[in-house]
This record gives sequence, structure tokens and C-alpha cells, in this order.
Amino acid sequence: MMPPTLETSRLILRKLEISDLTAVFDYSSEPEYTQFLPYPCPTSIADFKSIFQNLLDNEDSYIWAICLKGKHQLIGIIEISLDSPTEANLHYEINHQFYNQGFATEATQTVITWTWENLPQIAQIIADTHSANLGSQRVMEKSGMNRIKTEFVTWDKYPEPVELVYYQIKRPIS
Ligand SMILES: CC(C)(COP(=O)(O)OP(=O)(O)OC[C@H]1O[C@@H](n2cnc3c(N)ncnc32)[C@H](O)[C@@H]1OP(=O)(O)O)[C@@H](O)C(=O)NCCC(=O)NCCS
Repeated sequence: MMPPTLETSRLILRKLEISDLTAVFDYSSEPEYTQFLPYPCPTSIADFKSIFQNLLDNEDSYIWAICLKGKHQLIGIIEISLDSPTEANLHYEINHQFYNQGFATEATQTVITWTWENLPQIAQIIADTHSANLGSQRVMEKSGMNRIKTEFVTWDKYPEPVELVYYQIKRPIS
């Protein structure tokens, strides 16, 4: 789906393009980045290209590149996917060189507001993360989301089950 360009105080959120492949691969191929994600670290840009193309081709998602204003440098991705008629799923990621500067929170708050204003059928937004991913949980809390449940799942890359934490935000009553 075609996301509109959004602006925050420090960021431009614009449509993710195939020309962003290298910038996304560069941070995705760092083990620090994938430790709390279900898939292994991509090792070659050729392998990553098909994963990235699938992301771009997803007809059920709005996917933005998170870019620094002024420099127009891509520092991450944020996605709202429409998993059911009334529920959206949120995912975000930031290049580890830019962690802990509030960028994920700034993008998340903006995309949540955009969802309420532009997708009237969506009643709630859900996100999940590895229970050890405290930074991601903090982003959700700072964005007004509430922890609703935990669940153990199997990830091929780890021998033990992984505990996921789920967060939710409901459409504000207007
Ligand atoms: C999770 C992620 C998106 C956070 O991005 P970010 O831009 O650093 O997030 P923010 O700066 O907006 O907020 C991070 C918050 O977590 C806190 N934090 C970071 N690491 C932490 C840790 N180990 N323990 C406790 N708090 C932590 C920061 O202090 C900050 O909170 P504060 O503003 O109250 O100080 C980023 O780490 C990332 O992309 N990780 C890899 C992909 C990923 O895990 N995506 C989420 C999948 S659900």
C-alpha cells in the first residue's frame, strides 16, 4: 500500500523503495540488530534482496523509511500491517548507530496517530517483541501502548522457546 510522507520534528517518514536496499542491509546484517528478531542475520545482499522485495510487495502493509530530516539519511523502517479487518500490527526498527535517541518513539507516535486519522476501520494496534528486548518495550510504553499478554513461541534460530510480550493500544474514544 502507498504510505503518505509524514513529518515529525526530526524525521521524515516516506515510502520505502528498492533503492533503500543497501542502507537497510547494512544495519540488518549486524548481530546486535537481529538478536531479538525471529530470523538469522542476513549474510549477503543477494539473499537479503528477495526478503526486502517481499517486504515492498506486501499489499497488506504501509511501510515507511525513517529518514533524518535535512540529510534524508535512512535510519530505520516502520510498518503498519493490516492483519485483520479491525486490527493492525506495528513493527519498527532503527539502525543501531542511532539507538536511544528517541527516534523509534517519535516515528511510532506519529504512525499511531496517522492510523487513527486515516484507517477508521482499525480499532486497535498490536505489537510484540522478545521479552529481553527492553528497549522495544520502552518504545511501546512511551507510545501509550499497554502490555496485554506473554506467550512462548519457537524460533528456528534458538534451541529454547522464546517468550514474546504483546502490547496493545486501542483507538481513543472521540
Ligand atoms: C527497539 C528499537 C527499535 C528501539 O529504537 P530506539 O530509536 O533506540 O528507541 P528510543 O530511543 O525511541 O527508545 C528506547 C528506549 O529504551 C530504553 N532502553 C534501551 N535499551 C534498554 C535496555 N537494555 N534496558 C532498559 N531500557 C532500555 C532507552 O533508554 C529508551 O528509553 P528512555 O527514552 O526512557 O530513556 C531498536 O533497538 C531496534 O531497532 N532494535 C532492533 C530491531 C527490533 O528489535 N525491533 C523491534 C521489534 S518488536
